[in-house]
This record gives sequence, C-alpha cells and structure tokens, in this order.
Amino acid sequence: MADGSGYKRARRTKAPRVSMSSGNLTADRRFAYGQMLRENGDAAGAAEVIAQALELAPAWAEGRFALAETLAESGRTDAASAEYRAYLVLDPADSMGASIRLALLGSDTPPATVPEAYVRRLFDEYAPRFDKSLVDRLAYRAPEALRAAVGAIPTGRKYTATLDLGCGTGLAGAAFRSMTEWLEGVDLSPRMVGEARRKKIYDHLAVGDMSEHLRAATRHFDLVVAADVLVYVGALDDIFRAVRGKTTDDGVFAFTVQRHDGEDFMLGTEHRYRHGRNYIAACATANGFAVARLDDGVFRHEGGADVPGLLAVLRPLA
Ligand SMILES: C[S@@+](CC[C@H](N)C(=O)[O-])C[C@H]1O[C@@H](n2cnc3c(N)ncnc32)[C@H](O)[C@@H]1O
Repeated sequence: MADGSGYKRARRTKAPRVSMSSGNLTADRRFAYGQMLRENGDAAGAAEVIAQALELAPAWAEGRFALAETLAESGRTDAASAEYRAYLVLDPADSMGASIRLALLGSDTPPATVPEAYVRRLFDEYAPRFDKSLVDRLAYRAPEALRAAVGAIPTGRKYTATLDLGCGTGLAGAAFRSMTEWLEGVDLSPRMVGEARRKKIYDHLAVGDMSEHLRAATRHFDLVVAADVLVYVGALDDIFRAVRGKTTDDGVFAFTVQRHDGEDFMLGTEHRYRHGRNYIAACATANGFAVARLDDGVFRHEGGADVPGLLAVLRPLA
C-alpha cells in the first residue's frame, strides 16, 4: 500500500468534493490552476501551486487536504502525511477522511471506525444517486440476500419490531417491510434518511450513530439487520454488544460484510473494512450470540469486479 497505488485508487473512488472557496480570491485562482494541473496528471506541479494558494489561506482545511492528496499522488509520502496531519488539526472531525489516507500511506494505524463526519459527508453527497448507482452499476444485492436468509429461518411468525442499522435510502427496509409489524431505521447521513423518508416504508427513522441509537432505544427488537454497513466499522465488539442489549432472546441479527481472508479485520483501499470469518464468529460468541449462518457470497461489485462478502445470521445464545 505504501507505493501509493492503493492510495490513488482510493482517491478516485472515495474523495469527498473540496469546497472551492478559501475566502481569498487570489488563493482560489491559484487553487483552481493547481486542480487543473492535477486533473492533467501533473501532481508535482499541482502540489507546488496549491502550496502557494495555501500561503494566502493557511487555515483552509479542505485546501490543505487537497495539497496532501497531490503530494501523495506525486509520491512524496512524508510531506503528504505532514499535510494530512495539519488538515486534522484544522478539522479534527475529519470529514475528508485524512486518517484513512494516513493509514493507507502506511504512516499511521487505521482508525477504529471510518470517521463519522467522513461517512456523513460521503453519503450526504451520494444520497440522490445512491439507489441507481448501487443497483444498476454495483449490482448490489445485500438486501435480497439478507431477506432470503432471514426468510429461511423457521420462526413461523411475522417479526414484531425490526431495526435497520445504517438504513441509508431504505433498500433493506423495502426488502423487510412485509416481514415485520414495526420497521425502524437509523443512519448517520441526514440526506440518506431524507431519501428513505420519501419512500414512506419506515414507521420511524432517526439520524445518528447506530450504536448510540441502540443504547438509547427504549424497546427491544426481534430482528436487527445491517446491510453493507459494518464495513464502516473495524472492531465489531461495541456494535455487537449494543445489538445484543436490545435484541429479544428469540431474536435475529443478520448482516453482510466484506470478507477478509486473514485474521481479525483490515482497512481496504476502498475505505471499507473487511472482516475475517473467525473474527466474526469470536465476536459473536463474546457478545452473547451463536452463529446460525456465516455464508460466503457476492453482494456487490467494485470497479467491475465481484467483492467477496460474508452473510451472517446470529441468534442470541441460550
Ligand atoms: C452502503 S450504505 C448501505 C445502506 C443500506 N443499508 C442499504 O442496504 O442500501 C451504508 C450506510 O451506512 C451508514 N452508516 C455507516 N456508519 C454508520 C454508523 N456508525 N451509524 C449509522 N449509520 C452508519 C451510511 O451513512 C450509509 O447510509
């Protein structure tokens, strides 16, 4: 990863847009020229010009992030890392994902989860085209696969209360609507929740972090689903514990993740975590769940290729 190739791939797919205004007209003009050089493949020239722009607007967080990006693209890892760190001082919430970049450059350990502010920003930008992009372009099928797996459990009943973690625009909610009396969704991105709200399939929707939502919940759920969401979380203990705390003893927790073929979990170049089969099983047991299913599958594409995934169905330990 330290050769920068994974880093470049990640930038192409996952960089939030830089707001073009620094508040200084001359800095903006220099920055625009730097961006043009960058688009034309002259990362070293771009870095020089963007650095000049930042001399006029040193506290412009997004400009500094762009400088770090161009330095990384031109192979100047140490200088890039210093600029990412300077960006983090200006924006500690890390809405551009600098901590992920530092990890991909090999300059830092990966953050425990993808930063909330970055997820929110990414999905707020993505929301209006999310459904079309995922279903048409990325062949996304986690909701259908989860529905089939949950439908195969011989409970012989409709679920009383379902919580859709990281509900996004409601693709999983739509798949589960007919299986449950009450359908609740939570997501970090207000715009994703706005899209879900327009579909009128949920009984309740909330904007926020899923673990916090679970801890604050006043009801228990007999079905909790997380379709393509735990990929934004590295260590799963906290969320598994939170889910178990609000799952009924006859409940079901079903989710998909990206598969890691080693131990534990790793941060991939696509800015998503991949989890190992043994890790998931160990985390489940440690947090009061038994593994009913842990199946290999492909639930989406990325860059035209299949993404190896795992589909898990957990049941509370007796
Ligand atoms: C790839 S989308 C999947 C959306 C939906 N589950 C589906 O199947 O279409 C991932 C969603 O997870 C949300 N998300 C990521 N981390 C989250 C967290 N900690 N709490 C709540 N939502 C989160 C994102 O905002 C995004 O909408």
